[in-house]
Amino acid sequence: MELEIEKILSQMTLEEKASLCSGADFWHTKAIERLGLPAVMVTDGPHGLRKQEGESDHLGLNESVRAVCYPSGAGLASSFDTNLIRQLGEVLGETAAGEGVHTLLGPAVNIKRSPLCGRNFEYLSEDPWLAGEMAAAYVQGVQSRGVGTSVKHFAANNQESNRMSVSAEVSERALREVYLVPFEKTVRQAQPWTVMCAYNRINGTYCCENEWLLDQVLREEWGFDGIVMTDWGAMNDRCRALKAGLELEMPASGGENDKRIVERVKNGLLDEAVLDEAVRRLLRWIARGNDPKAPAPTYDRQAQHEFARQAAGQTAVLLKNEGVLPLKQGASLAFIGGFAKKPRYQGGGSSHINSVKVTNALESCASLARIRYAEGFSVDSDQADGEKLQEAVAAAREAECAVIFAGLPDAYESEGYDRTHLELPACQNELIEAVAAVQPNTVVVLHNGSPITMPWLDKVAAVLEMYLGGEAVGEAEADLLFGAVNPSGRLAETFPLRLEDTPSFLNFPGNGKRVFYGEDVYVGYRWYDARKMEVFFPFGYGLSYTSFAYTDIALDCDRLDAQKKEITVKVKVKNTGARSGREVVQLYVRPQDHTDRPVQELKGFAKVELAPGEEREVLFHLDCRSFELYDERLHKWILPAGKYEIGVGPHSRSLPLRAVIEAEWRGSRLIDDTTTLGEVLDSGRHVAAIDAVAKALGVSDDAGTGEGLGAGTDQMMRELMRGLPLRRLVTFGGMTHEQIQDMIVDLVFG
Ligand code: BGC
Repeated sequence: MELEIEKILSQMTLEEKASLCSGADFWHTKAIERLGLPAVMVTDGPHGLRKQEGESDHLGLNESVRAVCYPSGAGLASSFDTNLIRQLGEVLGETAAGEGVHTLLGPAVNIKRSPLCGRNFEYLSEDPWLAGEMAAAYVQGVQSRGVGTSVKHFAANNQESNRMSVSAEVSERALREVYLVPFEKTVRQAQPWTVMCAYNRINGTYCCENEWLLDQVLREEWGFDGIVMTDWGAMNDRCRALKAGLELEMPASGGENDKRIVERVKNGLLDEAVLDEAVRRLLRWIARGNDPKAPAPTYDRQAQHEFARQAAGQTAVLLKNEGVLPLKQGASLAFIGGFAKKPRYQGGGSSHINSVKVTNALESCASLARIRYAEGFSVDSDQADGEKLQEAVAAAREAECAVIFAGLPDAYESEGYDRTHLELPACQNELIEAVAAVQPNTVVVLHNGSPITMPWLDKVAAVLEMYLGGEAVGEAEADLLFGAVNPSGRLAETFPLRLEDTPSFLNFPGNGKRVFYGEDVYVGYRWYDARKMEVFFPFGYGLSYTSFAYTDIALDCDRLDAQKKEITVKVKVKNTGARSGREVVQLYVRPQDHTDRPVQELKGFAKVELAPGEEREVLFHLDCRSFELYDERLHKWILPAGKYEIGVGPHSRSLPLRAVIEAEWRGSRLIDDTTTLGEVLDSGRHVAAIDAVAKALGVSDDAGTGEGLGAGTDQMMRELMRGLPLRRLVTFGGMTHEQIQDMIVDLVFG
C-alpha cells in the first residue's frame, strides 16, 4: 500500500496536492479521477448518523437521512459501561458503512468544565479518565467496521460562547492532567483515523495552527498516525496550519486556501515536502476506508431501535428513591408533563438526528398501569398555566402515584450558546412543588443534557435522570419505572447545589476574547472535594433497586518502586438485595502526602452484573500514570514519593474499602538554585551538609541526621530553613556560590 501511495503522490500535480487538503463540499473530499482517487464522505455525529444528501449545514438545520438516535454523550458516559459503548460504536460503524460514509465525526470528548456549556449533552464527563475510556471503546467499535472516527474538538473547547475565537488561557498542567487526557487515551488505546481540531485558541494560538499541540503532543508524544481535520470553518492561516500538522480543511474556502498553498510553494515560502507529507497522510486515510466499489452492507433499523432502548436503560441514573420505584403494574397513576407525550431526547446542533421512531412514556406504559394524563405545563414556556397546573394537581391527588416528566426545553441547551443558569423553567418547579404537596408518591423523570438544580428534591419520593435518552426513551422509561430494567447508570458529572459553587463560576465564559481557566486542575469533583463542598449528587452517584456490599480489598504489593510498574487491586462485591442488578465499582487514587493535588482521582471502574446473593471478585490494574502528576516546569510526568490511598466503592463520596501503597520517587526533578532545603532534605541527600548549615544558623542541635531541622527546634525556624532556596545559602548558610553549584550538579547527576 505504501508503494501505491508513493506512486499516486509522485503523479500528482502541485495543484492537485493542494486541492486534496480541503473538502469538495460540506461532507466530501475531492476525487482525482485521472488517478483513480475517490472522494470520501464524512458525517456527524456522536450518537447517530446525520448524513445529509440535499442541502448541507453544520448546525443540524437541514434534513438528513433517517437514522436511529441513541442516547447522547452525557447519558452514554453515565453507563460507565465500555462494552455498551463499544457495541454502540459497532452499530454506528455498520450504519455508516451501509450509507457509504468513510469517517464518522465523533466521539465528542471535551471535558465538562462548567455545567453551563451548551454542548455538555454531547460531551462525556467532567472526569478525563472516564471520558477517555469511553471514547476509546467507541472508536474501537466504529473502526472495527472499517469506518473511521474523528475525536473532537481538539482541544480545550469547553464552551460555546465565542467558540470560534476565544483563547483558553490554561496551564500546561491542567491541559495534561485534565483537558488532553480523553484525547490522549483515545489515541493511545484506539488510534482514531482522524482528530478534529477545535475552533478556539489555546494560550493565544489557534488550535488549528498549534504546532505544539498537533505535531509535538499528538503525533510525537502520543504516536497518532491519522490525519487532523478542522472543525467546520475553523481554518485561519492555511499555510501555518499545514506546517503545524493539519492536513484537511473542512469544508473548504472556495479554493482560496488551495491557491495560497500553491503560491507559497512556488514562492519558496512553504516547503513542498510539508505538503507532500500532508498529502501522503491524506492518501493513507482515504485508503483505509471500505472498498467504495463493494456493495454497501445492509443494517436493520428495527434491531437498532431495540439497541437504543437497551442503551437508554443502561444510561439512566436513579438519583432518589424512597421506596416508590419500581411502580406496581396495574396501579392508578397520574402521568404529568408534556415530556410524557413528546420527550426531549436529543440536543440541537450538528448532532441532531432525523430519528426513525420516537417512543414516549405515555404510550409505552399504557398497558402496564391505569394512567391518567395531565399536561401540567407547556414544554416550551417558562410561564405557569394555572388551569393546566390545577388539572395536574387534581390528577395527582386521585392517583396512587404521580410521575412528572420534566426537563429542559430545547431552547435551554444547544450547540452554539451556553446556558446562563442551572434552573428548570419556573413553571416546572412550581408544578413539581404543587403536585408533591398533595401526593407523597411523586416521581420526577428528567429529560436534560446537563445538571439542573432541584429545589424540590426533599419533597418528592423519587428522581430518575434520563438525560437525553435517544429515540427509544419512552420504552426505556417504561422498563425502568416498572422494574423490567434495574437502573445502573452513575453520574459522570457532579450535580452542584448552586451555580455559584461551580469551579469556573468566576471565569466562565470569559470576556469574549479570553477565558481564564483559574480553577486549573480542580475541575468537577476535584474542586468540590478539595473544598469539602456539599453537592446535590456527587460524581459517580446512582441508585439501584437492589443493594451491594463491598469487602476484602487486597493489593498485590504495598510499594511502587523501580521493580514494580503496575499494581493489582482486588475487591469483592456482593448483591445483597432481592433483584439482579448491575453495579459500577469505582476506584480512586488519593495522594496522602502532597498539597496542590486533587484529593482523589478516578483511575478505574468496572460494571458488574450480579444475581441476588451473588458475589464476584473485581480486579483493577493500576500503572504508574495512575499516581503521577504533570510537572510543568520540567514538562514531564513525575511520580512524587509518598503514600497513596486507594479507595474503592459505589461513588466518589462513598469509598468503604481503603488500602495504602507507598511510592518511590520516579521521574526527573527540577533542581536549580531555587530548589529549597526542604526539597533537598526530602530527597535524602546532602543531609550532613544541610545539617551543618542548620547548625551554623543555630537551628539544630541534632547534626548529621537530617532530623535536626525538626527535633528540639522552634517550628518557625524549621519552616524558614526548609523554605530557603539553595541560592540563599550564600547569605544564610555560609556557603560559596561554587559549593552551591557543586551541590546542584551532584543532585542532578549524582
Ligand atoms: C461542530 C462539529 C461538527 C461539524 C460538522 C461543527 O459546528 O462543532 O462537532 O462535527 O460542525 O457538522
